[in-house]
Amino acid sequence: MNDRFLRACRRQPVDATPVWFMRQAGRYMAEYRALRQRYSLLEICRHPELAVVVTLQPIDVIEVDAAILFSDLLVPFIPLGLEVEFVKNEGPSIANPIRSEHDVDQLRMFEPREALVHVLETIRLLRVELDGRLPLIGFGGAPFTLAAYAIEGGPSTSYARTKAFMYSQTRAWHRLCSRFADLMADYLCAQVDAGAQAIQVFDSWAGALGRADYREFAKPHTERIFAALASRDVPTIHFAVGTAAILPDIATVGSAAIGVDWRQPLDEAWAVVGLDHALQGNLDPATLLGPTDRLFSAADDVLNRAAGRAGHIFNLGHGVLPSTPLENVQALARHVHERTLKAES
Ligand code: CP3
Repeated sequence: MNDRFLRACRRQPVDATPVWFMRQAGRYMAEYRALRQRYSLLEICRHPELAVVVTLQPIDVIEVDAAILFSDLLVPFIPLGLEVEFVKNEGPSIANPIRSEHDVDQLRMFEPREALVHVLETIRLLRVELDGRLPLIGFGGAPFTLAAYAIEGGPSTSYARTKAFMYSQTRAWHRLCSRFADLMADYLCAQVDAGAQAIQVFDSWAGALGRADYREFAKPHTERIFAALASRDVPTIHFAVGTAAILPDIATVGSAAIGVDWRQPLDEAWAVVGLDHALQGNLDPATLLGPTDRLFSAADDVLNRAAGRAGHIFNLGHGVLPSTPLENVQALARHVHERTLKAES
């Protein structure tokens, strides 16, 4: 098997730097858009045979070193009783967002092995399809980011409702986040048991919090997820955006690898989290929209900052943007491999 990705997560030497891309399956691919003409996002997530096809779409045409389960962060909202819908060009929308402690108590806790059996079935089918070719990454959301979606109910830039809830309904906030932590711990362990070989926890919006708030309202809940995953022998990745101020705390949340976005140079981030962590990142996804000479020099800057150290997983600082030309994604993956391939000794 191509085990570069798993080796890098464990900070073992690799023959070339592993590459994968957040949102490597999605709208920038014509095959995905074609399938979306016939099925909604949630229909694809609900049907293992469709989710398998979409997961495999990028790995057949791009030189990536890992596959990521096709699903969505908000899929677990459905069995909880949160009515989520994906509105075209606007993102997720929740018809009955959480606004009170009563709403928190109304959430239906569920057994992931039953209510999300279709996701676990997708993982099982993928392991058969991948047949050892590439490792498979499973994923879920961190409590802060899940709670932010559940409370806002739609897009937000200030997270005003989320923070107001945190500050003024503090007990309900912690109850909500601890429910998400329990659920995610269970769900992610179930993903590993079904065959996921690494787990990434997305706390996409944690960068909206100041350091003291991150410590009080988010970190203790995320820690519980990684503590539960420690019972399974797979590498874990923590990912968030805009984390420069909270990186010292993220370093102790319990993951093996840490994803960083492009705002902070990779070597500086590594100095903060310490060499006992693998680092994933951190090219600006927008560089894929420009000419390839600039794309390659930006990628080289990331690689130079990683300095060939064991434990670098090349990725973007956030997901592939829908307007990205596929050729640029293909060229970037090839470039990273060519630049870092070590001669056989
Ligand atoms: O290839 C992969 O990375 C796996 C698939 C994946 C999706 N969502 C599919 C998807 C993953 C890992 C996610 C995680 C996810 N979902 C996150 C965390 C990652 C991040 O971006 O920070 C978040 C915040 C969500 C919630 C979500 N889902 C939003 C905000 C949106 C709308 C924004 C957008 O890009 O349209 C989605 C929709 C979504 N999830 C799409 C895909 C491929 C696009 C939907 C479509 O086909 O119309």
